Amino acid sequence: MDINIAESLLEKKGFLDMDIDPSLDLFFEIEKLKKEKNAVILAHYYQEPDIQDVADYIGDSLGLAQKAQSTKADMIVFAGVHFMAETAKILNPSKKVVLPDLKAGCSLSDSAPPSLFKAFRDKYPDHIVITYINCSAGMKALSDIICTSSNAQKIIESLPADQKIIFAPDKNLGAYINKQTGKNMVLWNGACLVHEIFSMEKITKLKVHHPGAKVIAHPECEEPVLKMADYIGSTSGLLKYVQQSKDSTFIVATEAGILYQMQKSCPDKLFIPAPPENTCACNDCPYMKLNTLEKLYLCMKYEKPEILMDEKLRLAAKKPIDKMLEISARYGL
Ligand code: 13P
Ligand code: SF4
Repeated sequence: MDINIAESLLEKKGFLDMDIDPSLDLFFEIEKLKKEKNAVILAHYYQEPDIQDVADYIGDSLGLAQKAQSTKADMIVFAGVHFMAETAKILNPSKKVVLPDLKAGCSLSDSAPPSLFKAFRDKYPDHIVITYINCSAGMKALSDIICTSSNAQKIIESLPADQKIIFAPDKNLGAYINKQTGKNMVLWNGACLVHEIFSMEKITKLKVHHPGAKVIAHPECEEPVLKMADYIGSTSGLLKYVQQSKDSTFIVATEAGILYQMQKSCPDKLFIPAPPENTCACNDCPYMKLNTLEKLYLCMKYEKPEILMDEKLRLAAKKPIDKMLEISARYGL
């Protein structure tokens, strides 16, 4: 397709309406584009298997932010959701950061609009704000320290015992950390639609059929599911746990994309996705799954859609991310 026609189609309609020559081997073409453009593909574990297979690095939110900070590539192709690509841009203002589908948002991030959060924060002038990385740059700019599910507890424990804290936006992760640390953080009322859908009843039935199965859960799940869990951790924590475990069957309470790497690295073990309340595929994150291999190829080829940001906002959002990376490095996380 003529590059000008392709670009105007892109502006008007996005990638969905663009045809790709069906004879193209996208795996080969993506590798070629990586070399031509000195691009790196960073992918989250919830991406579809084909995307995970072409990625240079697959990780959880912390690992992805660390990779984005250290990469020497000129272009970062972010196969994940918007807040992750935005974090990469905040850390790399001079690099081009592209996301296969700009509509790949996050329900947790949407649950905390900065203007509403600012009014909430202002009611607690003696509290500091610790914000989960699943939020917009506007929210980050209102925060003191960013955290992810793999460093939240350590970051909170690193603060003085009497430090008053507001935790946003995930009330489930916040409640879990409160329980683990004995803190009484003020929680913003946000949640992830994927992690609140698991059915306790169905997990219990699965445990009856698989009595030796271990339940493993992401801390964004609600308390009753976390109470059933033998292990709670971030996506990379969950992956590491199954790799190191002597057990052979796992009921996995998080987005189903993580099962691909689990099965790949432990082919003899059985991984059962924790079932949602109804019959929908609700344990697939509808935002993560907006990215496809076709859109990834097109965004590398046309270097669009690109993440762009106001410099003042970027600098304000960078401060709490830098703090997180600094504390994480201190603890070897
Ligand atoms: P992790 O940082 O554990 O990968 O979590 C990211 C996420 O979006 C969970 O829903
Ligand atoms: Fe956001 Fe939930 Fe999707 Fe993670 S799984 S990106 S928290 S909506």
